[in-house]
Amino acid sequence: MSVLRTDSSPALRSVIVGTGSSLPEQVVTNAALTGRVDTSDEWIVQRTGIRQRHIAAADETTSVLGTRAARAALADAGLGAQDIDLVICATSTPDHTFPATATQIQAALGIHQGAAFDLQAVCAGFVFAVSTADKFLTTGAARRALVIGAETFSRIVDWEDRTTCVLFGDGAGAVVLEARDDADGRGVLCASLRSDGRHREKLYVDGGPGSTGTTGRLRMEGREVFRFAVGQVTDVIADVFAQAGVTAADLDWFVPHQANRRIIEASADKLGIARDKIVLTVDRHGNTSAASIPLALDVARRDGRLRAGDLVMIEAIGGGFSWGAALIRW
Ligand code: UT7
Repeated sequence: MSVLRTDSSPALRSVIVGTGSSLPEQVVTNAALTGRVDTSDEWIVQRTGIRQRHIAAADETTSVLGTRAARAALADAGLGAQDIDLVICATSTPDHTFPATATQIQAALGIHQGAAFDLQAVCAGFVFAVSTADKFLTTGAARRALVIGAETFSRIVDWEDRTTCVLFGDGAGAVVLEARDDADGRGVLCASLRSDGRHREKLYVDGGPGSTGTTGRLRMEGREVFRFAVGQVTDVIADVFAQAGVTAADLDWFVPHQANRRIIEASADKLGIARDKIVLTVDRHGNTSAASIPLALDVARRDGRLRAGDLVMIEAIGGGFSWGAALIRW
């Protein structure tokens, strides 16, 4: 099956000029979950690497978290509302069925020009959103984009299902991408996106406005998703390496979707990526779906690991299945 390729124009590149993130104040440890379902700190740490997650308060909706992350990214970039002409919010937990959460964030930030829309590719949403924004910027359709991953999965997990509720957390991350023609090789180099809807039943929400008229709850065959995540996603990674003419040895940082430490390390081992090049946040954040990669990027940039010129690979797989990878020269 062919892979949808997305080469950037060499003349115009989308450069990340700011990052930001936002986590709810409430931290829920594994120990706290043992009072809710039949589980243990030992099981969760051993099987997933997760030690805690942040859970949103009632008034912390996806747009609230996304707005905070976007504001931090704008401040980091030294830019204001007037500078942004595209807002993309990757989310599967929108505040409302419509309007788009991106438009809520746009309004909250005082951005009154350009376009704003949500993108739904579940855990792969941020990779899909970066690739989409890159198309707008490298074709000249927009100049500066806010790309946000924001989620409140605590609202859609079944808190009585121990096989899923211990895995997820809430949060948001954002980047500002700017079209530059003097990028010195920096920016989004390439991306590769894939979907295969035949895997719907392995990870889905059992409701929606067009079916049950309810929000529904998350359902997952964990072992099947695990197997696919480690076994199959190498196609998009091989594709971005081939497009950019680089290998795993050239990477400075691997920033994967944070679902499970075992998936991340098994994938890195399979690809020949050294463990010390992995940015890992799943221990503190849990699985925040589309927010996990921009949250991890912000952590690594602020603690000094990510530096201008570094070669970074982002990669994710989620419901659908949809999966993708992108290479970014930071
Ligand atoms: O972000 C989107 C993508 N999602 C993912 O990538 C998640 C992928 N899947 C996974 O990360 C793992 O499959 C899980 C963490 C969900 C599960 O780990 P596993 O090693 O595949 O465990 P399992 O499902 O094979 O379950 C092993 C045992 C079962 O008991 P039996 O049947 O062996 O008696 C489960 O009932 O662990 C039991 N179990 C639990 N025990 C304590 C399942 N959940 C729990 C729990 N606490 N929370």
